[in-house]
Amino acid sequence: MKKFENVFVFDHPLIKHKIAILRDKKTGMKEFRELIEEITTIMTYESTRDIKLEKVTVETPLEKTEQYKVPEESVAIVPILRAGLGMVNGVHKVFPTARVGHIGMYRNEETLQPQEYYCKLPDGIDKKTVFLVDPMLATGGSACDALDALKKRGCKNIKFMAVIGVPEGVEKVAKAHPDVQVYVSTLDRQLNENGYILPGLGDAGDRLFGTK
Ligand code: PRP
Ligand code: URA
Repeated sequence: MKKFENVFVFDHPLIKHKIAILRDKKTGMKEFRELIEEITTIMTYESTRDIKLEKVTVETPLEKTEQYKVPEESVAIVPILRAGLGMVNGVHKVFPTARVGHIGMYRNEETLQPQEYYCKLPDGIDKKTVFLVDPMLATGGSACDALDALKKRGCKNIKFMAVIGVPEGVEKVAKAHPDVQVYVSTLDRQLNENGYILPGLGDAGDRLFGTK
């Protein structure tokens, strides 16, 4: 894949280990959900090396000291429904007070075009660092439309995190949204004729929620 400055592919051994279990068709719903959450937490740590901190004064039992903290109300999480819901707790482990917006998208099974069916975002989201999350980045259509929806509401500082991506989808998002940081924990080979990622893990939403 061509190199893009706004794309980050993780090469963390623990992520590799967890993804191997996640892909396995024998992995059940509970473990699948836990793994998505754990991988998301690791990704959140790795993707926040540039997060802005503010100086605060803290009183230890011994003296006052100047320290650095993440400003209150500076982060929001936006899952792309449904499968993105599986990643929310993983980000909340790192930012427990982050407000959550929701963008509903489904792919038309024949055209593979995303359809937006819901959008509800917290007030003031335009001033926050937004973690847009979805486990699967396939054609990139859902991510691009969700990013358009966030930008239409004024969001300027957006990080998109997907557990698994494929080169064509990652390129599409990186080109359409060069100002967005795109994080994928692993890059798979290709899409099949039905728009599924190979080797992939199947349908993330169904495996998270036990719908098939
Ligand atoms: C899946 C996945 C992404 C989208 C990725 O959702 O969770 O949102 O497909 O595909 P794309 O990159 O080609 O747009 P799906 O439409 O299956 O909906 P679901 O989450 O409700 O299962
Ligand atoms: N959505 C999924 O859940 N899995 C894929 O492989 C592609 C899109």
